[in-house]
This record gives sequence, C-alpha cells and structure tokens, in this order.
Amino acid sequence: MPPLEEPCKFQAFMNPTFRLRFPSTMMVFLWALFLISFMASFLTFVHPAPRSTSWHKNVRSSAHIRRPNGISVLVTGAAGFIGSHVSLALKNRGDGVVGVDNFDNYYGRSLKQTRRDLLGLNGVYIVDGDINDRRLLSVLFNTVEFTHVMHLAAQVGVQYAVENPYAYVRGNIASLVTLLEQCKSADPQPAVVWASSGSVYGAQNKVPFSETDRVDPPTTLYASTKKTGEEITHTYNRLHGLSITGLRFFTVYGPWGRPDMAYFSFIKNILQGKPITVYRAKNQVDLARDFIYIDDIVKGCVASLDTSGKSTGSGGLKNGSAPYRIFNLGNGSPVTVPALVTILEENLKMKVTKDVVDMCGDGDDSFAYVNISLAERELGYKPTTDLQTGLGEFVKWYLWYYGNPLVQNRSV
Ligand SMILES: NC(=O)c1ccc[n+]([C@@H]2O[C@H](COP(=O)([O-])OP(=O)(O)OC[C@H]3O[C@@H](n4cnc5c(N)ncnc54)[C@H](O)[C@@H]3O)[C@@H](O)[C@H]2O)c1
Repeated sequence: MPPLEEPCKFQAFMNPTFRLRFPSTMMVFLWALFLISFMASFLTFVHPAPRSTSWHKNVRSSAHIRRPNGISVLVTGAAGFIGSHVSLALKNRGDGVVGVDNFDNYYGRSLKQTRRDLLGLNGVYIVDGDINDRRLLSVLFNTVEFTHVMHLAAQVGVQYAVENPYAYVRGNIASLVTLLEQCKSADPQPAVVWASSGSVYGAQNKVPFSETDRVDPPTTLYASTKKTGEEITHTYNRLHGLSITGLRFFTVYGPWGRPDMAYFSFIKNILQGKPITVYRAKNQVDLARDFIYIDDIVKGCVASLDTSGKSTGSGGLKNGSAPYRIFNLGNGSPVTVPALVTILEENLKMKVTKDVVDMCGDGDDSFAYVNISLAERELGYKPTTDLQTGLGEFVKWYLWYYGNPLVQNRSV
C-alpha cells in the first residue's frame, strides 16, 4: 500500500493553480540567477581582481618621475631585447617606466629573466603579464597615469609563422587592439609609439625604401601582421584622437640581443668550429640587410617619445586631430651577410667554413636598403655605430654572457 500522502502530493502537483505558479517560480529563479551572474561579471570587469599591496608599490615606485618635465611610460615587451634597452635608457634619464612582459618561450626565458633582473637593479619593475589581458591593463592604467606607451611586445621571428601562425594573430593583432582600446579609454590618453617593422616593404624592388612607398604585398605573415598594425593604429588615430608613431625597425643587433637571429647562430658556430649556412638569393646574389646597432635604435625610440605630440581624445571621444607618424629606423647602408660573417671572424680571430645555399625564394626578402632622411629631419635621428664597432660590442658581451666554449674546453 502506498503511503496516504503520495496521492495528495500528486494531486497537489496536478492542481492547475500549482501548475500555473510553477513555471513563474522557475522563471523568477532563473532571472535572479542570470542577474547575479551578470552583476558579478560586470563588477569583476569594472573592479578587476585586486593585486597585492607590494605589487602596487612596485608599480608606483617604478613609475616615479625623477626629472622636471619627465614622462611616465608603459613599456610592453620590456624583458625583450629592444624593450630592456629602451626601459633602461628612459629610467636613466629620470623618466617613470613600468614594464610588462609575458616572458613567452619563443626563445630562452632565462635571457629575458636576466634582463628583468638587471632592470630591477636599476629601478624598473616588469609586470609578469600578457597585454591581451584587459583586466591587467585596466589595473595598470588605474594605478599609473601613463603619458606614453612604448609598445614593443610582439610575436617576433619570420620563419616561426609557418609553424604557429596563430601566435602572430594573437601576439601582433589581437594584443594591439586590446592595448589601443585601453589607451583610447584612458583619461588623459597617452601617446603611443610602437614597433612596426622594415619587413612591411616585402620584396619591393624600388630602393631605398621610403615611408611614402606603397607597401603591398607583404611576403611573410609576420610582415602582414605589422602592416595590419599600421592600419589599425591609423584607425585609432582618426577615430579616437590617439597620437601614434609607428617605427619600422630594420635588423637590430647588439648586446643582450635575440638568440633567434642569424648573427647569434653565426657566432655560436664560429666558436664551436662548426660550419655556417649562408643563404643566397635566387640569382646567386648575396643577401643584404640593413643592420642597426641597438644604441642607435634606442635613441630613435626615445626621440619618438619626446616628439610624439599629445593625444586629443578623452574617454574614447576624439577632440581634434592628433599626430600620426611612421618612421624608418635603420642605418641607411645595407651590408651583405658574408661581409657580416667576415667581421665576426675578425673580431673572434677565427675562420669558419661557409655552406652557401641558394634560397628557394619564399619566406624572406633578399635585400633591404632604407632611406632614413625623414627620421633624421623629424627626430634628429643619426646612427653613429658602424657594424665593425657594434659587432665588436656584441662579441664582447656574448663571450662574457655565454663564455667561450674553447676557453672552457681548455680549462677542463
Ligand atoms: N629586433 C629586430 O631586429 C626587430 C626588427 C623589426 C621589428 N622589431 C620589432 O620590435 C619589437 C621588439 O623586438 P625585440 O627584437 O626586442 O623582440 P623580443 O622578442 O626580444 O621582445 C618582445 C618581448 O615581448 C614579449 N611579449 C610577446 N608577446 C607578449 C604579450 N602578448 N604580452 C606581453 N609581452 C609579450 C616577449 O616575451 C618578449 O620579451 C617587436 O615588436 C618586433 O616585432 C624588431
């Protein structure tokens, strides 16, 4: 026998009044749930997760300006090659500098960590974070009123795009939009100086490359993302009054440089007594690059910040036109790759066997020759380090940082 209550419960359930009330009770419950989660995500967005007191203290102290008319700069990619040098130069002259870097593993993290430690000793704090993180950017801009953003973070390298194209979309396009959105909404808006690349000129035949040249079509995905960046920054300048300066760097080299670059693998092989592969263009012409020493690039970056002019918008709205500039930053005199190898050999007093390989033609451009007269005029940019001297400095640093394998072998 079923208990007596059962039919009563069933009857109550079947009662038309209850049936009418049930859906409305459920609806109220679901609406309440929806409102609570909506409010929670809204509040999280408006008031991002709190960070520790020491984090805020580090950021504020790093942003502290120590000279009259100094500027306060957010440097993205500050643990990178160019970012670490620019951060140090700004800090040394008394500007406020806060770095942000996600320490990606495209090349050795330990080199980035050592650069970070070095900057730390000089009063520059690097936030370990990704600029795709809107909440992080929001906290940073709520903590410091940045007058300038030096945007150097990127997915670098040309060949890696074949393996991981998505890293370039995320690292060079999505992150740029996220950063510009934050700059657009800031009040006052900072002026933005960012790294484009000389690779936007692609396989252009007309030399030297000038800023007024059309730059279609790019020959690599990396170049495409940089060219897209130039278009995106142009839009933010037109629509939101952001002051924008795009810098087309050519092949930057020097101490604390990037291990993925050719001159790095050359020195390693020379020291280890291994042959090196030297690529040649299809018509058996030597590849040539516009090598530019890091100190000269730093001067160009700092001059760009100093002359950037103000953004005009506030709270996302434009209040007049703001500067939009693009500069080539190179040396103005291309050098062939075999000539570079010879300088390395002279510096190391060693000889290397060269395996010359003809390029299949895809993936990279064979010749770079750049006109830097616009930067000379507008920024007072004037490279002063020749390749012989600059590579000499690089070799000294390399032997200090990595040690000389031959010397190490002898001591074993
Ligand atoms: N070195 C050159 O010869 C050269 C030439 C042309 C253009 N550039 C451009 O100059 C800039 C600096 O180049 P570099 O040679 O110093 O490269 P780098 O790889 O040494 O520095 C870039 C830094 O950005 C960081 N990073 C990448 N994605 C990030 C993200 N989403 N959030 C936070 N940090 C991120 C990386 O960890 C790295 O430390 C890049 O934009 C690059 O495209 C460099």
